[in-house]
Amino acid sequence: MGRQLLVAVVVSLLCVALAADAAVVERIFHVKNLTISRLCERRVITAVNGSIPGPTLKVFEGDTVVVHVINDSPYNITIHWHGIFQKRSAWADGPNMITQCPIRPGNKYVYKFNVTEQEGTLWWHAHVSYLRATVYGALVIRPRHARSYPFPKPYREVPILLGEWWNGNVVDVEKQAFLSGGSLSNISDAFTINGSPGHLYKCSKNHAYELEVVAGETYLLRIINAAVNNQLFFKIAGHNFTVVAVDASYTNPYQTDVVVIAPGQTVDALITADAPPSSYYMAARAYASAGLYGPPFDNTTTTAILRYANSGGRSLPASMPSMPAFDDTPTAHRFYTNLTGLLRPETPAVPLHVDERMFVTFGLGVGACEPSQVLCNRSRGAVTASMNNVSFQFPTSISLLEAHYKGLDDGVYTSDFPDDPPVMFDFTNAKLNTDPALTALLSAQKGTRLKKVKYGATVEMVLQNTAMIGAENHPLHLHGFNFFVLAQGFGNYNATAATGGYNLVDPQVRNTIAVPLRGWAVIRFVANNPGVWIMHCHLEQHLPLGLAMAFEVEDGTTPESVLPPPPSDFPTC
Ligand code: C2O
Repeated sequence: MGRQLLVAVVVSLLCVALAADAAVVERIFHVKNLTISRLCERRVITAVNGSIPGPTLKVFEGDTVVVHVINDSPYNITIHWHGIFQKRSAWADGPNMITQCPIRPGNKYVYKFNVTEQEGTLWWHAHVSYLRATVYGALVIRPRHARSYPFPKPYREVPILLGEWWNGNVVDVEKQAFLSGGSLSNISDAFTINGSPGHLYKCSKNHAYELEVVAGETYLLRIINAAVNNQLFFKIAGHNFTVVAVDASYTNPYQTDVVVIAPGQTVDALITADAPPSSYYMAARAYASAGLYGPPFDNTTTTAILRYANSGGRSLPASMPSMPAFDDTPTAHRFYTNLTGLLRPETPAVPLHVDERMFVTFGLGVGACEPSQVLCNRSRGAVTASMNNVSFQFPTSISLLEAHYKGLDDGVYTSDFPDDPPVMFDFTNAKLNTDPALTALLSAQKGTRLKKVKYGATVEMVLQNTAMIGAENHPLHLHGFNFFVLAQGFGNYNATAATGGYNLVDPQVRNTIAVPLRGWAVIRFVANNPGVWIMHCHLEQHLPLGLAMAFEVEDGTTPESVLPPPPSDFPTC
C-alpha cells in the first residue's frame, strides 16, 4: 500500500472513530397526509415520511440530534422525544403548550438536542391531541463503544412498536370524547405490531409483520408501547424473554414468558431462536386493569410472525401464545415489581437525602359539563381527572416554558402546586363516592399550578392512585428526568409500613411508572435540569381531562445549570 493511501486510510478510520464518539445525526421529518388501507378501509392519516411507524432514529450515546420537522399536515404538530433528558434543551422537549406552541400547518421547527448519559430504547411521538396514534417511531440509543452492552452482543436488534388503530379520524375521536364529557369512549378498532394488525383482523391477510430468525441466534427486541389508551401483554409462542432494560435503563436480567408494558414504556428483551424450527405467532392484547365490568376497551388481539429461516413453506404459524386474562393484575404486578436496576460503575446512586417530599393523589372524578361540551350528559356530569385535586389546564396563549423563561407567568400559571391533597381520606375505597363529605374532592379545581423546585433538589413523590370513580392502573410519565422506583403496593400508602421496604440499592429506573390500581408507588429523582417539565398520565384520554401537573425547575448557579434562550425558529402562538 502506498504511503499516501495508508495515510488516507488511517485518517478516514480516525474520522469514523471520532464520528462514533460524537456525531451529529441530522434528519428531516416530513409530516403529511398518507393514504393507507387497513381493516378493509382506505383512510387518510397523518404520518412522518410516508410510513407508520415513522423512521427509526438511530444514534450513539453522546450524539447530537437535529431533526427538521416540516408540517405539511392539516393539523398543529409537535414532536416529543419520549425519555430524552433534554439537558439544557427544554425548548426541544415538544409537549404542546408546555414547552412550545405548536408548529402550524405549513411551518417548520428544528428540534436540536444532545443524547447523553442514557442508552437503550426510547421513542418519539406527536404530543398534541391524539395524533401520536399515527405519528410515532423508535429512538434507539446504542452505547458509544458499540460492544459495551452489559449482555452478550445480540445477533440482530429489532424494534417492536405496539400501536393502536382507529378506523375513524383520531383528531375527531378525541373531539368527540371531549364534547361528550368523556362518556363517548370511542374505543380503537385494532392494535398493531410495527404498523400491521395481523391475521386476526378482517382484510389483514397481508398486513402482518414478519421477523425471520436464524436458529440458535439471539435477538434483542426493542419493545415500545406506542398504543394510545391501553396497557398491553406481549408474548411469543414457544419462546421466553430475558428483559435487560426498561425505559432506556439497564436492568438485572429477568426471565419471563410475558412482557407487560404501559403506554410510554419500553422493554428491551433478548430472545433466543431455540425452539423447533417453524413459525410462531407473537401477540399483544390489552391489560384492562379496570376489569371486565369497567369502561369498554378494545378486546382485539394483534399478531405478528416469528419465522425460522429455512423452516420450509410460508404456511401460517401453528401456535398462538396463550395470553393472560384481560384483567390479570397479578401477572402485571409480578412483571412490574420484579425488575431491578443493573448496577454499573456509571450508574447514579439513589440519593438518600430528600429535599422535597410530595404526597400526590391522582385519579378520575366528575365535574360539571362545560358549556362547550355539547354532547355531555348534564345530569351525570363530565369525567374529569386530577392530581392533588387540581385538574390540569393547558395554557392557551403562551407555552409554560416560554412564560417561565420570560417571567410572563402572570395570568398563565401559578407556582403553588400543593405537596399534599386537601384532605386525607380512604383513597382506595370505591364506596366513598357516595359520601357527601367527599363531593368537593370529586369535583377537582381546575388550574395551571406548577411545583417549583430548586436546581439539584431531590424530589420524592408518593403517587397514590384513588378509586373515587372506578379504579385503574395509570401510567404516569415524567418529562426531563428518569426516576428511581423505590416501592409499589396495593391499598393506601402507609409510610411506617412502606419505608422499610424501599429499594435504595438497585431500584428500577424509569420515565413512566404504571401505578397499581387501588395502589401506590414511590419515586425519587434529582431535579438537575432547568425548565418546565410535565408529568402526566400516558393514557392519552386522561390528559385532556386534567391528569397532569408540571415541575418548574429553576436555574442553578453555574453556567451548566442555566437554561439557554429559545432557538431563533421557536414557534410562537
Ligand atoms: Cu410520551 Cu408527555 O409523553
